[in-house]
Amino acid sequence: MFNKVNKDIIILGIESSCDDTSVAISKNNRILSNIVSNQKVHEKYGGVVPELASREHQKNIIPTISLAFKNANISKEKIDAIAFTQGPGLMGSLLVGSSFAKSLSLALSKPLIEVNHMEAHVLANLIDHKPNFPFICLTVSGGHTQIVKVDAINKIKILGETLDDSAGETFDKCAKMLGLKYPGGPEIEKYAKNGNFQAFEFTFPKVDKLNFSFSGLKTNFMRLIQCNIIKNKSFIHENRQDLCASIQYTIIQVLIQKLNIAIQKYNVKNIAISGGVAANEEFRKSIKKLEKKYNTKVLMPKKEYSTDNGAMIAIAGYYKYQKKLFTNMSINVNPRSKLVYY
Ligand code: KG4
Ligand code: ZN
Repeated sequence: MFNKVNKDIIILGIESSCDDTSVAISKNNRILSNIVSNQKVHEKYGGVVPELASREHQKNIIPTISLAFKNANISKEKIDAIAFTQGPGLMGSLLVGSSFAKSLSLALSKPLIEVNHMEAHVLANLIDHKPNFPFICLTVSGGHTQIVKVDAINKIKILGETLDDSAGETFDKCAKMLGLKYPGGPEIEKYAKNGNFQAFEFTFPKVDKLNFSFSGLKTNFMRLIQCNIIKNKSFIHENRQDLCASIQYTIIQVLIQKLNIAIQKYNVKNIAISGGVAANEEFRKSIKKLEKKYNTKVLMPKKEYSTDNGAMIAIAGYYKYQKKLFTNMSINVNPRSKLVYY
């Protein structure tokens, strides 16, 4: 029943790992629709509240699915498979997406495909593109910071990752210290536009090999604010733009420094980025400069496919469908799911 050959493959992708309910429909390696329902409820808390996130997913999932089908102009019976995020992520959030995917799979008699969220971020680069393998991808999200080598679509090896906090979390926490709302990355980017990136200097983390550490940088930022606010109560207000520009610049430099080491060590000139932080314009501009340095073309997903989205789940599902990598109803979500080389 599931073996349809020589035809367009249509996949429904469901992403619910954190605080975005997102559903997309793909046709081969193209995206027909990609709907993201953001959860504004977390803004005032300065971070995602897991309990609230799962409740919001419950509320959003049906309208998001319906809109995805409407925008793709496709009926439910036309899909070939349902792909969903199996992990990593928040348990309650993952359960909503996976339960919905299972129910739909049963109701429509369509195969189910589990997708690793980090693998999907990397494969977002394959939407509308056929990359040259191997390529090095720097994935920078709220939960992870990883450098991986992609030997083939399903052969992704972690070369290095953060030993503590992620770069996205650093954006979020620094924004919180400045009284800005969650998610902090876009807020820092907005204020950084008119700031001086050399106004404040932060110590670069010293971490071995291709690993990262951002907790020291966060503490560094907090101390700078605490010391200055004692002397001047308006310190944040008067320096917000410069603080944002300086911390953004430092985070980007730390990321690019490691990416350069990876490119040289593995002698791989095909480069890509992914994850929510890849939506940052300054980061994209800095990464673009590597094209000249290494005489290459850098891949970066469109901004809407950088932050969490259903399209990357659908695209990963499409490649798994081709290999008939289906899963069964007993599959469990895993908040700590790891990338596997298969
Ligand atoms: O990939 P993502 O959407 O979700 C996770 O898998 O975690 O990444 C979310 C992270 C958040 O930390 C958010 O602040 C950051 O990506 N982010 C940005 C920007 N847009 C989202 N960071 C810097 N600049 C942005 N424009
Ligand atoms: Zn993500």
